[in-house]
Amino acid sequence: MYNFKDDKMVVVIDHPLVTHKLTQIRKEETGTNEFRKIVNEIGGLMVYEITRDLELEEVDIKTPVAPMKAKQIAGEKLVICPILRAGLGMVDGILQMLPSARVGHIGLYRDEDTLQPVEYFAKFPNKLDERLVIIVDPMLATGGSAVAAIELVKNKGAKNIKFVCLVAAPEGVALIREKHPDVPVIVAALDEGLNEKSYIVPGLGDCGDRIYGTK
Ligand code: PRP
Ligand code: URA
Repeated sequence: MYNFKDDKMVVVIDHPLVTHKLTQIRKEETGTNEFRKIVNEIGGLMVYEITRDLELEEVDIKTPVAPMKAKQIAGEKLVICPILRAGLGMVDGILQMLPSARVGHIGLYRDEDTLQPVEYFAKFPNKLDERLVIIVDPMLATGGSAVAAIELVKNKGAKNIKFVCLVAAPEGVALIREKHPDVPVIVAALDEGLNEKSYIVPGLGDCGDRIYGTK
């Protein structure tokens, strides 16, 4: 079995605030309103880890007391790319921390019979090749959707990509590592595995349905 512990490209955020909030949304009795709110909150908290290695540049500024050489984030604005629908549920929380970020949209759903990802929409900001592209989706199950989403942004020119999710199955992480070894995977929790319907166990159920109240 693939050993994530020795893999620096896989980060599990085990911060107590993130873990606590994740427990709230895992509970089957948590309703749509609360579920949606917490998914966004966790997205916001994960930003610290996602942006840890952003490049800084030196600038000359003046404080009210003295001139100084200070640092600011360098380069083009980063882009958040949610995989629709469920990924959209994390975007507002992330934008609260990164208000200038651009947003691209990746329309994909998992065909529940074949488990293959089906693409239905894609729209991105320009200069994808110069931006950090953060693909977000709360759930990484078989990894089919994530791998297809990464391929899509690579075909549009993206070179610096991170994949971010709330709950991952080891199978999904392993597939991304195999197909896209250059893409770091940042997860809030790594669960046990998949059930016979390829749902994450213990997971939190169907995330899109729980965010949007569609079941
Ligand atoms: C869910 C989830 C991921 C995908 C994960 O989306 O949000 O995109 O399944 O499964 P995989 O790793 O096996 O591909 P879903 O297809 O249910 O669409 P939705 O977000 O529109 O509900
Ligand atoms: N999609 C979900 O929303 N949940 C799972 O457990 C697997 C795929």
